[in-house]
Amino acid sequence: MRLTTCPRAGSPWKNARSTLIAALALVLVAVAPGACGSDSASPPPSAATSDLPADLQAALSRRCWECHGPKPTGGALASLVTRRELLTKPTGRSDLGATWPEAPTRAQLAVQLMRFDDDPMPPAPKPRATDAELSTLKAWVAAGCPAVGDAGADDVGCDPYDTPVVCSSGSEWQLGDPLVNMNPGRNCVGCHSVSGGPPLAVGGTVYPTAHEPDNCRGSDGAGAVTVEIVDAVGVSHVLPVNGVGNFWLKASDAPAFAKPFSARVVGPGGVREMMTQQKDGDCNACHSKQGDNTDKTQTKKAPGRIVLP
Ligand code: HEC
Ligand code: HEC
Ligand code: HEC
Repeated sequence: MRLTTCPRAGSPWKNARSTLIAALALVLVAVAPGACGSDSASPPPSAATSDLPADLQAALSRRCWECHGPKPTGGALASLVTRRELLTKPTGRSDLGATWPEAPTRAQLAVQLMRFDDDPMPPAPKPRATDAELSTLKAWVAAGCPAVGDAGADDVGCDPYDTPVVCSSGSEWQLGDPLVNMNPGRNCVGCHSVSGGPPLAVGGTVYPTAHEPDNCRGSDGAGAVTVEIVDAVGVSHVLPVNGVGNFWLKASDAPAFAKPFSARVVGPGGVREMMTQQKDGDCNACHSKQGDNTDKTQTKKAPGRIVLP
């Protein structure tokens, strides 16, 4: 039998328990795969926009992209279309009152969520992923989440934040360097507010890897890397990343800067976007060598440095 009408998920977290029975019933009637995908507002992207292996793409597009497409819908916050997106830290959903397992990446979390008996991904009343689809994702994670063509390469790994502490540039800031190259990795906004530097609305450093020490020179932005900030009222600021990875926004250039803001790094290799909004413009205070959290209303620590995409 084939399901012809597809119930909308509505607010899956509030009614997960009550829809569990219905979900099991749906599984039993063996819905044709993909039957519910076609009514999606944003159609799944074509293969060309995803850099995942074909079998994984097929499984995710059937079960997940309806909500986790390039423009997430159905209450989902994250796009799960590219390898980079799957290798990003999960944002969790603490604000929705449910507890999820800790996982270093969305790919690893997805494996756990797809296995959940209660409250799985995709959420009820969507049909569950098949064992074969789950195995496809599991096998990819077990292989180190390789990009297409990378299978067997030595440098593959699922977690871009699981790297040693290293100063990639091999070079440290020195007294006498140009002012704009100062103190990469340290707390720009905080120090300026006490030391007489010009007040900053935003300041930070972009690094090649996730755990780099203070004062280590960061990524050379070379005119090609920017940090984009969109403030609470939608005003956007595109900040160039300089030769040591530093970027900043002087308070005098943004007198009406409104928090919270969104942030992302854009470079030739792609985009890294912060999923949560922040109220503290002192990026390196959270994005320190090991990662920290200056906002005690949030439970998450930053995963480490702001990393070049
Ligand atoms: C009906 C919509 C819907 C479908 C289909 C769906 N999800 Fe979700 N998913 C959500 C919602 C809502 C959340 C919670 C908000 C969020 O964190 O994105 C979520 C969260 C997640 C998260 C956590 C993201 C994070 O950063 O914390 C992962 C991982 C995930 N889903 C994986 C999947 C996978 C894998 C599939 C397909 C097998 C899938 N989802 C299918 C709606 C959906
Ligand atoms: C240890 C304290 C301290 C830290 C940390 C610090 N600064 Fe500064 N910064 C200063 C002081 C003091 C000045 C003013 C120096 C002067 O005018 O001689 C300054 C000046 C500057 C200027 C020059 C402003 C101008 O045009 O006159 C820029 C740009 C700047 N800092 C950016 C940053 C960035 C970006 C960071 C973080 C990566 C940072 N600073 C970290 C203390 C600090
Ligand atoms: C209060 C702590 C905090 C501050 C301040 C903060 N961040 Fe973040 N940032 C986080 C956390 C936590 C994450 C991981 C979850 C997420 O993506 O929201 C993150 C993730 C990111 C990511 C995505 C990393 C990845 O690859 O998944 C980028 C890029 C980023 N932040 C940039 C910035 C920039 C730029 C600033 C300053 C304008 C900033 N952050 C300030 C806590 C912070």
